[in-house]
Amino acid sequence: MRVLGIESSCDELSFGIVEPDEHTVSANVVHSQIDLHRRFGGIVPEVASRDHVRRLEVLLQEALDTASCELEAVDGLAVTCGPGLVGSLLCGIEFAKGLALATKRPFLGVHHLEGHLCAPELESEGSLGTPFTCLLVSGGHTQIVHVEAPGGPYRILGRSRDDAAGEAFDKSAKLLGLGYPGGPAIDRLAEEGDPDRYDFPTMMAGKDNLDFSFSGLKTHVRRRVEESADLDLADFCAGLRRAIVDNLLRKALRAARETRALVIVGGVAANRLLRSEATRRSNAAGIALRLPSKDFCTDNGAMIARAGQRRLMRGQRSSFGLDPRARWPLETLR
Ligand code: KG4
Ligand code: ZN
Repeated sequence: MRVLGIESSCDELSFGIVEPDEHTVSANVVHSQIDLHRRFGGIVPEVASRDHVRRLEVLLQEALDTASCELEAVDGLAVTCGPGLVGSLLCGIEFAKGLALATKRPFLGVHHLEGHLCAPELESEGSLGTPFTCLLVSGGHTQIVHVEAPGGPYRILGRSRDDAAGEAFDKSAKLLGLGYPGGPAIDRLAEEGDPDRYDFPTMMAGKDNLDFSFSGLKTHVRRRVEESADLDLADFCAGLRRAIVDNLLRKALRAARETRALVIVGGVAANRLLRSEATRRSNAAGIALRLPSKDFCTDNGAMIARAGQRRLMRGQRSSFGLDPRARWPLETLR
């Protein structure tokens, strides 16, 4: 089944097409709104949805052209229906309904995080097989998930009790005057810094569980910025990045002891130190690791197409009453 996936849950609009062989991605076009939101220092939901509306048709055509296929040659449609910004989600959902009506093809609402979990399947290396443990680190979520079988069930082993890891990067960057989005900016500066110069608090929310807590970090960064006018930005970012990465990996690798297989996905999985340290430490621990390429770690339509393809092939369908869901716990998926 050739499936077209639509992702519009936040500030990226993307269309992806996956082929019936289940591994070939014939298109994955992404429009990022970073430039649009930068001057506000963060995402403005109303601005995000208005831009989605403007670009839906053009980007769909770009995806079809990339895949050299007509809309009629698509067998099914998958669209992110949550969790995310309601206005942004609505743009993709209503567009998908229109396409489904026009083409008489089935469509399905897909869970955004299930899409992220499918990222390794989009590359020729393929998935690690199941069960596996996944560290899912995005701008809105930080979770350690046990994936029992393809398409679930999913068991949440640990999560952030407050801010997500991406949020910790973004909010710290804002306090440091590095602009939006903060993750890539801190990552870049950290490359030139000395991580030992400044101390950082632990973010583990206790040693005996697999949860995280990043809100204390934000307070720490704010205090340091207020106290010291001559903060060396590169050194500070290097320490900050190492502290976040260290905390994430310590718990993720502990969680993966059972399955011996770890997958890391979500926007923060693009972080250079996270990638190199995950490779080094998983090797040392004898744990198999899958780190999808950066394009498949950040939000994209191909991952939604892949997640939808599996469910559509099982006969699952959505009705035209499908509504966006701002919140939608992954563990309730069947
Ligand atoms: O998965 P994603 O593209 O969108 C959401 O579903 O949230 O993740 C976006 C998040 C942002 O917080 C961004 O700062 C972070 O991923 N990010 C990074 C890097 N690239 C993106 N964080 C750290 N280092 C990076 N290189
Ligand atoms: Zn995401």
